[in-house]
Parts: sequence; C-alpha cells; structure tokens
Amino acid sequence: MEIKVSNDVKNLSVNVLVVNMFEGEKTSQELVNTYAIEKDKFEGKLGQTYLLQTYGQIPAQKILVVGCGKRDEFCQNDLRFVVYKAVKKLQQINAKTAAFDFEVGFDYGKSGALGAMLADYAFDKYKSEKAKKVDEITFANVLEDSVKVGKICGNALKFARDLANEPASFATPSKLADIAQKLEGITTEIYDKDEIKRMGMGAFLAVAQGSKQPPKFIHMKYTGKNVTKKIALIGKGICFDSGGLDIKPPSSMLTMRDDMSGAACVLGIMSVLKDFNPDIEVHGIIAACENMPGGNSYKPGDILTAKNGKTIEVDNTDAEGRLTLADALVYACELGVDEVIDIATLTGACMVALGTAAAGIMGNDEDMIYRIIETGKHVGEKYWQLPLYKEYFESLKSDIADMKNTGSRYGGAQAAGVFLQEFVKDVKWAHIDIAGTAFLEKPEREFIKGATGAGVRTLLSYILNL
Ligand code: BES
Ligand code: MG
Ligand code: ZN
Repeated sequence: MEIKVSNDVKNLSVNVLVVNMFEGEKTSQELVNTYAIEKDKFEGKLGQTYLLQTYGQIPAQKILVVGCGKRDEFCQNDLRFVVYKAVKKLQQINAKTAAFDFEVGFDYGKSGALGAMLADYAFDKYKSEKAKKVDEITFANVLEDSVKVGKICGNALKFARDLANEPASFATPSKLADIAQKLEGITTEIYDKDEIKRMGMGAFLAVAQGSKQPPKFIHMKYTGKNVTKKIALIGKGICFDSGGLDIKPPSSMLTMRDDMSGAACVLGIMSVLKDFNPDIEVHGIIAACENMPGGNSYKPGDILTAKNGKTIEVDNTDAEGRLTLADALVYACELGVDEVIDIATLTGACMVALGTAAAGIMGNDEDMIYRIIETGKHVGEKYWQLPLYKEYFESLKSDIADMKNTGSRYGGAQAAGVFLQEFVKDVKWAHIDIAGTAFLEKPEREFIKGATGAGVRTLLSYILNL
C-alpha cells in the first residue's frame, strides 16, 4: 500500500473519501450531515463506520464516515485505531484508492500511517489466495515528515512480525544471523559455537546443545555521527522452544516458534536505524538457538558456568530463555553502554498475571523504567512494572551451585527477573517480558492472529526520542 500526502483531497477521483466525525458534531461534508447524521442517526462512536454512495455529487465514488467518539477524549492512539478500522472497511468493500480528509485538530501523520499499515498487514506468504489490499491512500492535514516517521515505524513493525510469524524451520539461528548480516547501515559480528565457547558462555551453549541447528551469537552495531548515548538491546532468540528434556505439553508447544519475538523486535529496530540516522550508538544482541530434546541435550541437575563465572544448577530445561539471556547480559555489560534493555518471551507467569494487554517490566533503575512505560503510553503499548524484591531469589537458591534456573511457581516472572539481575553489572538495566503480548491466538485491537511485533514501537521511540 502506498501512503501519500495532499491537502487537496476533496477533488481527488478516488474510490472512497474517508471523513471523520465526532459524537454530537456535524462534519464539513453536507452529504454526511444529511444522510448519515440526520437521516440514519449515525452516532459517530469510536471506531463505528458508515458508508454512503455519492452518485457523482463529489469526485469520490463513496464516502466512508468513521466515528471518533467525543472530541475532548480523542487522542493519537484513538486516531491510529480509527484509521485501522477505516482501512479494514476499505479492504472489505474492495476499494483500491482512498483519501482521508480528517479534521482532528492535531497532526496525525505518524499514527495515521501506522494505523493504515497495521490494517494492511497480512502474513499470506504461504497462502495461495492473498489478502485483499488497498493500493493507495492519501492523507490531508498532516505533515509530510510525520507520515515518513510513521511509515518507517510501520516497516520495522512489519519486519519483526514477519520474522516471528515464520515457521521455526525457516527462522533458524543461522537465518537470523544471515538477516542481521544483510542489514543496511549496521555492522554485524556473528560468533559460532567454538567462539561462543571461547567467550565462556556456558549457559547459552548448554541450551543450544540439544539441537541440530548450530547456535549463533549475533552482535549488530549502529554508530551515529556524534554519539550522545550508548544503548544495548538484547532480544531473546529461542527459534523454537520445545522445553528440552522437561518437554512442553503439545498445546503449549504449538506457538513456540514465537520464542524469538524479542530477537525479531531487535532486528526490526536495527533494520530501520539507517532511515533515522540518530546520533547514538545502538547494539543489537541476540543469543540465537533452539531448545530441543535429544541425545546431547542439557539435563536437569547439570551445572553450568555463565560468562561472568557464576554457576547455575539446571532445575528445569524449559527455563532456557534466562540462561541464554544471562550470557548475553554479561556480554552487553562489557560494552560500556549507558543502558541495557532486554526483551523476551520469558515466562508463562507474566502471561498469567497480565494477559495479552500489557508486558511486564522490571529493572534496576526506576527512572529508566518510568520513561519506557511513558513512551509505551504514547505509542499505544502497555507496560506494567513488577518488583524485583530480593525475596524472589530465595527459591532460586541451590545447594550445589550459585543458583538454580527456576524456583517457586509463584511470582515466576519476578523470579526470572532476579535471576537475570545476577548477570547485570554497573549499568542501567530494564527487562521486558513479552510472553503475553508477542503473539495473539485470536485477533485483538489492531492485530490479526499471530505475531504483534511487541516492543518495536516503544523501543524505537524510546531510543530515538520520537
Ligand atoms: N518461552 C517460554 C515462556 C512462554 C510461555 C512464552 C508462554 C510465551 C508464551 C519459556 O521459555 C518457558 O518455558 N518458561 C517456563 C519457565 C518455567 C519452567 C519456570 C514457563 O513459564 O512455564
Ligand atoms: Mg521454555
Ligand atoms: Zn522459551
């Protein structure tokens, strides 16, 4: 779908002219006021749509009215939602061209473009019949530059969603490494098994050893001209999580190709940094492997040594993400960055606690956590802070090693958090658990079933101060 900008959309010969309506107010289109509002009592509640034929009275063949609810409650997040709804309706009626003549009292370029691109998203690569698409839309009353920003964010989101939706047999650790190496404007270092061993990443290697797919440690780097801030983003990159020897039941395993959603998020962000050229240094780090049962798998009771020398007794091989992240965190903390953020589909417990509505966030710096949560509010992603009380570490205590990789069933997301904290040193750190938000089993809000690209919008806005 192409997205254009023009302020003269009233005269465009498009299939559909899309106008907005606030509850209890008239619009600037007489046809709408007469037919939709007066005759049919269209209320204009948020997300409602009303379609009317124009029979040659204006250049567009049809008018689509979208309800925006009450004017004083309307915000950018609502705007993204109503544009999404409108484009979905356009697809339904097979429209190919549309013009949005919205008058909302603010520049809606970024959220409008994002809403349209969310509606345009389909994962139909493997389908014989492709999804219906709108070819071209034009926005009026927006800044060209903000549409551009929206489009780039939309591209990052699509990149991440496509990758997380791919079957595990496609999106292997080697594939992620290939993709990382081909990114424009990024320098990438790939470490293979022997080098991973040499770096002392005993926890990551143990998880990887049960699979025929070789592990890849991926380090991407973007460097701006006058670097003002250095940040490392770590994405959990378990390309398939069977649970290992402590194998998952079938229903839980079904979606475990999404266990690299954190990695997909980081790759999506890295893929668009060149378009923004920011004056920052960004490291993208992924310890990519599969968690599989097999003759060479790591076993419950094994003792692993992570890159920082700490030892871990394996209590459950399905708590693999924190093991791979442990070594990635130690690596990231050695880079001399100001902030480290890890993003991971880490715990079922986080999903039980927060559902699909919000991701969990934890860390060692309240201000950083607050800023991420606030950024999320602006872009429409929710984060809920969970505590890292030292009490959570009690159940991780081991008789024979420095810690176990799992403990009590209760407070599981926080237990994973305090485990990760053991591998963080001298840096501001935030941990984001997207187990509930990364992948939807049914359509919700502006998302179809499957990968949502959780974290992409927030972290992109956070690092770029958008
Ligand atoms: N990848 C899973 C967490 C997960 C669960 C992500 C559901 C998305 C949806 C993780 O590796 C895992 O298996 N965690 C275990 C930990 C347990 C063994 C302590 C869990 O949450 O059940
Ligand atoms: Mg697991
Ligand atoms: Zn996992």
